[in-house]
Amino acid sequence: MKILLTGGAGFMGSNMIHYLLRTYPDVKIVNFDDLTYAGNLENLADVADDPRCTFVKGNIADAMAVDQVVADVDLVINYAAETHVDRSILEPKAFIDTNVYGVYNVLEAVRKHKTPRYIQISTDEVFGAVLEGESDEGSKFEPRSPYSASKAAGDHLCQAYAITYGVPVIVTHSCNFYGPYQFPEKLIPLFTLNLLEGKTVPVYGDGMQVREWIFTEDHCRAIDLIARKGNLGEVYNIGTGFRVPNLDVTKKLLQLTGRGTDAIEYVKDRPGHDRRYAINSNKLRAELGWEPQVSFEEGLAQTVEWYKRNREWVDRCRTGAYKEYYDKQYGKR
Ligand code: TYD
Repeated sequence: MKILLTGGAGFMGSNMIHYLLRTYPDVKIVNFDDLTYAGNLENLADVADDPRCTFVKGNIADAMAVDQVVADVDLVINYAAETHVDRSILEPKAFIDTNVYGVYNVLEAVRKHKTPRYIQISTDEVFGAVLEGESDEGSKFEPRSPYSASKAAGDHLCQAYAITYGVPVIVTHSCNFYGPYQFPEKLIPLFTLNLLEGKTVPVYGDGMQVREWIFTEDHCRAIDLIARKGNLGEVYNIGTGFRVPNLDVTKKLLQLTGRGTDAIEYVKDRPGHDRRYAINSNKLRAELGWEPQVSFEEGLAQTVEWYKRNREWVDRCRTGAYKEYYDKQYGKR
């Protein structure tokens, strides 16, 4: 089985490459990644010499490059995406290029080369804020940030291509990921590192916004199952049901890093901040027998340990485009 994994040098993509190489001795992987600020081949340094995985530098917004890498694979998993909401508020264009136009390019290539399967990685954020209850696979899209609007557009294209051209695509909506290699702009790695370094943590608004959390390894298992057994043309939600306010996550991080509540700094809220996400994953559980295996306590402790032990990785992340963004976002407080 030859798999094209786009965005394989990013957080989720690199975790999936590790997972696939560990799980399938005969797998062949093409990692297509443009190495933008969040993609880093260091994430794959331990498997750099593995002949089963090759790297091609490129962007999914480049139609010709996409066409070439899709040409001879059995499965495409599209992890390539701009993913950070705060960045999308500052500069939305890259989100449209990658998350909308890029998905169109992948769909066109899959259609042309008759690739047997395409898995689109997406988010529960397309459903917008869910103040009560849960979003299921049929819930209406109500995106409220440039990021979630761009993902919703990509997902709509996937559905439209499945219906119009019979393109064999499956869309997955996942709750918030966390774990090793996550770029330190997202809540968990940003707060972990700030706390380890004696800094304060910027809690937006009252910190009572609710997110649902999944550990990377559980997400990899879900994608693997969906890729092997999911029904083409369908949508699967991936969620753990573990939902907590940001302030609870922050307090757990304070405990794990030995810091006190004086490290919490309440800052101005994110514009259009979604109050709550909650995703119903009964379909994935009932149809494919998936269950999350890592508790939040266990996953968070492992994640904090990983950031403690990988300071060089962190230092490398904090150069160039990331530094520019960090200074713009947090520098002036
Ligand atoms: P984030 O990790 O950016 O993921 P998303 O916005 O896609 O859910 O943020 C998770 C939650 O944490 C979200 O409610 C915003 C909040 N947050 C803060 O309070 N402070 C921060 O500095 C960041 C990055 C996020």
